[in-house]
Amino acid sequence: MASFSDEPLFSSAVLSLYALALLTVLSLLFLSAPYGRHARPGWGPSIPPAAAWFLMESPTLWLTLLLLPHGRHRSHPLALAILFPFLLHYLHRTLLYPLRLLRNPTRTTTSPGFPLSVAAMAFSFNVFNAYVQARSVSHYAEYPPPAEVPWWVWARVAAGTAVLLWGMAVNVRSDLALLRLKREAGGAYRVPRGGWFELVCCPNYMGEAVEWLGWAAAAATPAALGFSLYTCANLVPRAAQHRRWYREKFGSDYPATRKAIIPYIF
Ligand SMILES: NC(=O)c1ccc[n+]([C@@H]2O[C@H](COP(=O)([O-])OP(=O)(O)OC[C@H]3O[C@@H](n4cnc5c(N)ncnc54)[C@H](OP(=O)(O)O)[C@@H]3O)[C@@H](O)[C@H]2O)c1
Repeated sequence: MASFSDEPLFSSAVLSLYALALLTVLSLLFLSAPYGRHARPGWGPSIPPAAAWFLMESPTLWLTLLLLPHGRHRSHPLALAILFPFLLHYLHRTLLYPLRLLRNPTRTTTSPGFPLSVAAMAFSFNVFNAYVQARSVSHYAEYPPPAEVPWWVWARVAAGTAVLLWGMAVNVRSDLALLRLKREAGGAYRVPRGGWFELVCCPNYMGEAVEWLGWAAAAATPAALGFSLYTCANLVPRAAQHRRWYREKFGSDYPATRKAIIPYIF
């Protein structure tokens, strides 16, 4: 149904998402992104985390909404159904998540702020990715006329969206639990307990990875698959770094059987 556009520039942009995923996973084998518990000097001035998350994630909202009216599928029900959960995720990430960070009055001593340089890189990536995702769904994908969309295409979009929403529920609940833990611990780090935390170190990352797998299934575009791979390339190594960090900090108090991001496996 959806295919690589024959517009060479757009196809190159989609391909570069795959190249970025590869580059990201390779670099994260040697480096950790320097924010949160992995923050370290040498990355320039910092800004409050709430401002950083608002700034870096916002392009996925405003650029998607700016591009949608210019797509040839701007009012196609399939394109709108696919884009809706994408926008829902970024509505939460851009507006609600920073508000929650803002409400969290305490900070860990190790992560007093978010490096502006890292936020700027993430902002650039999000401009690029929002463009690629929004245009692939709203303009470049091939859809049958609305009345002729086969039932199985609707079924695939519904199943992918259900997976995305489940992943989002796990992601949001886990982030809320971590922020509560941080607040209750007066800004210090504690070992999270209960629910998915008993199986994996980073259920918030697991939920996020599941979200974009669902999105890839719903959208069925090379761009969506590329973003899903990029997310895994980013979050799987970071979850392993988090787990290593917990083991070093808490020693035998950290459950040895708890995996990084995939229950029972990794
Ligand atoms: N799509 C992507 O590629 C991508 C990339 C990165 C992040 N994200 C998403 O963005 C959200 C935030 O990511 P993140 O990397 O900041 O997640 P994180 O490292 O799990 O931290 C989330 C928040 O909880 C606090 N926290 C975490 N563990 C804690 C503990 N054991 N005790 C006390 N407080 C704790 C952190 O404080 P500190 O900041 O002080 O550590 C931070 O405020 C997640 O939902 C993630 O899935 C998505």
